Amino acid sequence: MSSLTTSKAWTALQNHFNQVRDHSMREAFSKDKDRYKKFSLKFNDIIFDFSKNRITDETLRLLIDLVNECELGAKINAMFSGKIINTTEHRAVLHTALRNRSNYPVYFQGRDVMPDINRVLAKMRTFSESVRSGEWKGYSGKTITDIVSIGIGGSGLGPKMVATALSPYSSSSLKVHFVSNIDQTNLVEVLQPLSAETTLFIIASKVFNTQETMMNAKSAKNWFLDRAKDPQAIAKHFVAISTHADNVAEFGIDTENMFEFWDWVGGRYSLWSAVGLSIALSIGMDNFEALLQGAHEADLHFRNTPFEYNIPVVMALLGIWYNNFFEADSHAVIPYNQSMIHLSDYLQQLDMESNGKSVTLKGERVDYSTGPIIWGQPGTNGQHAFFQLIHQGTKLIPCDFMVAANSHYPLPEHHDILVSNFLAQPEALMNGITADEVKMQLTPEQQANPVLVASKVFEGNKPSSSFLFKKLTPKTLGSLLAFYEHKIFVQGVIWDINSFDQMGVELGKVLARVILKELKNNDEISSHDCSTNALINAYKQFRES
Ligand code: F6P
Repeated sequence: MSSLTTSKAWTALQNHFNQVRDHSMREAFSKDKDRYKKFSLKFNDIIFDFSKNRITDETLRLLIDLVNECELGAKINAMFSGKIINTTEHRAVLHTALRNRSNYPVYFQGRDVMPDINRVLAKMRTFSESVRSGEWKGYSGKTITDIVSIGIGGSGLGPKMVATALSPYSSSSLKVHFVSNIDQTNLVEVLQPLSAETTLFIIASKVFNTQETMMNAKSAKNWFLDRAKDPQAIAKHFVAISTHADNVAEFGIDTENMFEFWDWVGGRYSLWSAVGLSIALSIGMDNFEALLQGAHEADLHFRNTPFEYNIPVVMALLGIWYNNFFEADSHAVIPYNQSMIHLSDYLQQLDMESNGKSVTLKGERVDYSTGPIIWGQPGTNGQHAFFQLIHQGTKLIPCDFMVAANSHYPLPEHHDILVSNFLAQPEALMNGITADEVKMQLTPEQQANPVLVASKVFEGNKPSSSFLFKKLTPKTLGSLLAFYEHKIFVQGVIWDINSFDQMGVELGKVLARVILKELKNNDEISSHDCSTNALINAYKQFRES
């Protein structure tokens, strides 16, 4: 048994769970009119309501004991102060310094990192303003109209999610496109309508040798040179974002046109760095800095607020409660906001790459469940797809709902319908509907049909948390994203895992390289298991050239 599951706090939680597992939230609400007041928190323009969770005062108290026992306070300080907490890769984890708008010194190996961060931010401002104003010209003297940002994982999902979420702030004269997949469909379809004269490529890759990104970048360069016919023109149309200047130069981009970031920024935490250049180009540098400001204020909240009032800590503890005690395997994130369409994809990488681990910091196999499966899509679309299972299926799926009180667009009737659904779903999930209540809505003949009655019962008691915010501004989005980052960090601390490496992505990459060589000719392959051999050989027969 691990020290976590035998710890005093864990044992107390297990005993408590055995007592309260069947408690009804419906009853808790009817007994306690102050439940919302007790179980909700406010931060700037954001309300976090966690009252529709299967918790009592005691649950929260015991969960707080657990984080205290895990020495969360000391671990938060270690992260913010640049300690090597990514021990397997021997790296500090300092994405919070990227958005340190207070500009207090942050030391890494005895050197303040803030001057470097501020220098790159200034370079991003100069560049993005020059492109957005039309001052930056392409090789034929025309203004840039399209940005193609090439990058995958953290170098793709974050900027794409933020640029889409903040599209109401975007420039109408500059369109930003994202390419990540090695499937040529992605690049070909993005490039099809574009003109090389007015297109600027951003190649974003921390290591600048990621297979998909480098292949896409090479094909983009070929597409560009086929049209521009002049290698000198690359300087006006290709910029790089990376920690590896040598790889950038080798690819053929002048390092003058490179925006750097640093080893201590994890890929999936990099949208706050120069990786956010496509965001700055889309919404302007002032708005990008407002995004940083929102995240910074959330960082200060995380660092300085007692755990019971600390939004990311409470989010993390609720996750632990369901993941480790109720044995819920997944967690759904459902923004009632079409522009947040990529949020669950982004959080999927952030959470699953961070906490999809099964050994502790000491290298021992865990004997408890770690990171959940993260998924979701915007409401109300999800209601007509997977909500059936959340309401009446056999799985417990805690959900996060979120909505803005004000839309950026002018159709109030739409917005009230949207918000009514955002409010109704958590209520329905919590209350459910009993057989007696079902019968009251049926004709006597229907009431006599037990199958019909049973099919219409909603058991209820399904947990959810809700974020209601004034408007989806850059600042609000920055805070929300930082809350999720810190939630994941806190859970990693409790599970005693390294949330900042991603060794699990390597094996498949290595095997793909071996197989790629075998695909270069039509020889029959027999070096793998019989399934892989058969599929490789069938592919060779099927392919047309
Ligand atoms: O393969 C996983 C990963 O390393 C992610 O962690 C990262 O976000 C992505 O690949 C892209 O990496 P890079 O920015 O170095 O191209």
